Amino acid sequence: MRTEERQRLLGILQHGLEHGGAVHGDGIVKSPLEDFTCRDLLAEEQRVFFRETPLFMGLSGDLPGNGSYWADSQTGSAILMTRDDAGRFRAFANSCRHRGAQVVADGRGARTRFACPFHAWTYGSGGDLIAVNRADRFGPVDRARHGLVELPSAERHGTLWVRPTPGDAVDVDACLGGLADDMAHWDLPRQVYAGSQVLEARMNWKLAIDTFGENYHFDVLHRETLASDIRGNLQTHDVFGSHYRMVFASIPGFAQVDTDRLPVADWPFRRMTLSVYFVYPGTIFLVTAEAVHVVRIFPDGNEPGRSRTAHSLYVSPEAKTRLDDPADTEWTLEDRFRNFNEVVFEEDYRTAEATQRTAEAGVLDHILFGRNEPALPHYHNAHRRGLGRPLLQTESA
Ligand code: FES
Ligand SMILES: [Fe+2]
Repeated sequence: MRTEERQRLLGILQHGLEHGGAVHGDGIVKSPLEDFTCRDLLAEEQRVFFRETPLFMGLSGDLPGNGSYWADSQTGSAILMTRDDAGRFRAFANSCRHRGAQVVADGRGARTRFACPFHAWTYGSGGDLIAVNRADRFGPVDRARHGLVELPSAERHGTLWVRPTPGDAVDVDACLGGLADDMAHWDLPRQVYAGSQVLEARMNWKLAIDTFGENYHFDVLHRETLASDIRGNLQTHDVFGSHYRMVFASIPGFAQVDTDRLPVADWPFRRMTLSVYFVYPGTIFLVTAEAVHVVRIFPDGNEPGRSRTAHSLYVSPEAKTRLDDPADTEWTLEDRFRNFNEVVFEEDYRTAEATQRTAEAGVLDHILFGRNEPALPHYHNAHRRGLGRPLLQTESA
């Protein structure tokens, strides 16, 4: 994100804090509730979004050195990601070429040989089939043709991308569209992985995404939690193709800066803001003053009313040192996850689960997105465009 852009965004927030600000959506949009319950739609979403579309998986810090690996099945496909001997990011279908078992259990660490738990065929971090257990008994196998199936993958600006289906290479700049400047700005290659958790919720995956799409609700739902930190009903609003960015004002961040005297060019953007990105098709990327959160949201199996949220946290190396020091209780990972869960899981998701029940009860046929919630029709239309469905239109309620 360029300096002028940061100044423009800070100017909007400053004006909004002083004079009250309006968000500039086009109008009210009706969102049909059947989008959250339809099994045929979910099957199509699974195919297009979570098998054929390149996915923003995480940050370079997920694979901190040559010989590190990360096995992840949250997308619905078992994927093995490695940093090979040459330091190159690689991704493979985590499926054994013998009988298709998952070779590496979900998790992460440093290892360059992976023995399948079923019959111990062994693969290297470049996917090569190193050994067939008791090959004399099994029969001849051309090892050169039986490595793990490689998936298109790419690493750029500290972001990791994988397409869960083999095929064309991933072009990260094309995937990021206009977000490349922002990603370059956040110094992502330097961020260190600090931990992750998976939250399961009884609601459609798009309802989980919607909870990140506006701050109209902050002063109500989060009045005891976030509302003292982030100004409700005030955001910037920028569309980058299918992606979306909103920036919120940090109340303590603005209070700490003498905005009358200090030129805007010198305002510390990151301390004064919370930046929230929707990265198509299902990742929420959050940058706070102290941490970067990658929140990947997926359908849970073939059930439209269930979703999984894979949340990973990254911090600067200096912050990680503090995090690892048990004497510094303010920075423990547990505290950070507890804070996130208190707000996202206990407040947002609990509320959105009720919307799922409303959808399943069939008493309403649509819900409404307001002018002050412009990210919501944006996501829904990005998804609809991805599936070739008719777009939601602005109308009067
Ligand atoms: S399925 Fe992997 S070794 Fe048999
Ligand atoms: Fe919320």
